[in-house]
Amino acid sequence: MNKNNIMPFHLFHHQGQHYVINIEKMSTGTVDARTSEALAMMASDQETLLPSDIEENLKKLGLVSEGWQNSQRLVKKGPYSIVNMALLLTQSCNLKCVYCYGDGGEYGTGGSMEEKTAFQAVDWLIEQSGKMKKIHLGFFGGEPFLNFPLMKAVVEYAEKKVREMGKEVGFSATTNGTLLDDEKIAFIKKHQFDIGISIDGPRAVHDAQRPYANGKGSYDSIVPKIKKLLEVMPDTLGHAVTVGNTDPQLVKDALIEIGFKKISLRQASPSLFNRDSDKIKSKRDISGLLNVLEQEAETWIHLTQSRDRQALETLKDKSDLFNGITALLQNSRIYHACSAGLGMVGVSAAGDVYLCHRFVGMDNYKIGSIFEHELNRGKYLISPTTSNEKCAACFAKYYCAGGCKHDNVGSCGSFTTPSEEICHLRCRELELAASIIGRLDPVDHAFLLENQIFPPKPCLLDF
Ligand SMILES: C[S@@+](CC[C@H](N)C(=O)[O-])C[C@H]1O[C@@H](n2cnc3c(N)ncnc32)[C@H](O)[C@@H]1O
Ligand code: SF4
Ligand code: SF4
Repeated sequence: MNKNNIMPFHLFHHQGQHYVINIEKMSTGTVDARTSEALAMMASDQETLLPSDIEENLKKLGLVSEGWQNSQRLVKKGPYSIVNMALLLTQSCNLKCVYCYGDGGEYGTGGSMEEKTAFQAVDWLIEQSGKMKKIHLGFFGGEPFLNFPLMKAVVEYAEKKVREMGKEVGFSATTNGTLLDDEKIAFIKKHQFDIGISIDGPRAVHDAQRPYANGKGSYDSIVPKIKKLLEVMPDTLGHAVTVGNTDPQLVKDALIEIGFKKISLRQASPSLFNRDSDKIKSKRDISGLLNVLEQEAETWIHLTQSRDRQALETLKDKSDLFNGITALLQNSRIYHACSAGLGMVGVSAAGDVYLCHRFVGMDNYKIGSIFEHELNRGKYLISPTTSNEKCAACFAKYYCAGGCKHDNVGSCGSFTTPSEEICHLRCRELELAASIIGRLDPVDHAFLLENQIFPPKPCLLDF
């Protein structure tokens, strides 16, 4: 077989086994040592023909290109309607977290959103959403609950407007948890908010990273409130940020101990306001995260082989490999890492529209205003999988799709260029996801699908 018939692939070796990822099809499988060697020779241009008996194996993996174009998933290429808005109800905060990308919640200017601006933002979002039925409003800040009266007014206004327009609205809020009380908990429960609580782990770590303005730690004041919230909203997300080489497992364990079922964890990104940026950049150490990923892969294998459905459900909500496994099982490709500037935007207290909430206050990333109709976002609609040379050549491009634009600017100065550490992490996530799929047999795969641990492959006509 000729080299030109072979689709682009990535070969790797893990625990004595050879794996191939078919880059374009986002599929994976195991190969024997001889096939792996032949493919490696071909990739390094030392060989242009493959022995015919290896061909069968490659066909099974979908690595032979005949007809592959027919099986490509349909991809939404736009137009992109804005359906999701992060509304900065206030650009002030009662905490002064050491890493805050919003410059202590003020995003350079500070200020509080006025009611007429907030209502205009809702009208603007409804207009921008065009034919899309559902819109989403995320309350953000600073600390959004500092402006709880406005949050209540906006919820009432948005619910009334969508009723009139035959649309639907969903709400979310990201909060430091300090101001939660019975009234607020009842309100967010009533309106079915998705809530993300920011908490960085055990008391010592949290207090060092998330103090009040007077330097006092915030852990003891938020934990009892979080526990109350979890009683009525057990699916609340606990979101942690790590700085330096904090052990991510320690952080996850601390959140589980408090009672969170859903957990996410990210490393601090450099702030574009520059305060402490260099400190965060130079301290980014992903060794702990890599260890956690390796352990998680073993846990997936163990729990699947022992048919522990309940533990798998729990693992899924805290998993860093779930998206990779799902993408490879569904052969799905993404072209943008997130919907910043495509389906979602961030809106400042003054009504300026930014690429996303993180970019508020950064003139270079302002793409419009809620008092105008047009958005200036052309360059953000192009996928980094083609516009960035490094991403275009990366085997994980349809899984990572270029990374968080804000983190990229902070780390590398360009919104399309991810940092080395993020590239390393995303690539390893995809390899480990592939290794899990490869190490499980077809009966294990069937068990995972039958028990809906992973969603079934979507129908091509469901678009
Ligand atoms: C800017 S805060 C606004 C909402 C609220 N004040 C809070 O802390 O949840 C939103 C989220 O961004 C996270 N965050 C802030 N600065 C960050 C940084 N430099 N890198 C990564 N996440 C950061 C916070 O931990 C929080 O989860
Ligand atoms: S609580 Fe949120 S907005 Fe306030 S300083 Fe911390 S991360 Fe920034
Ligand atoms: S650019 Fe980064 S912070 Fe903004 S929406 Fe995308 S992933 Fe999230």
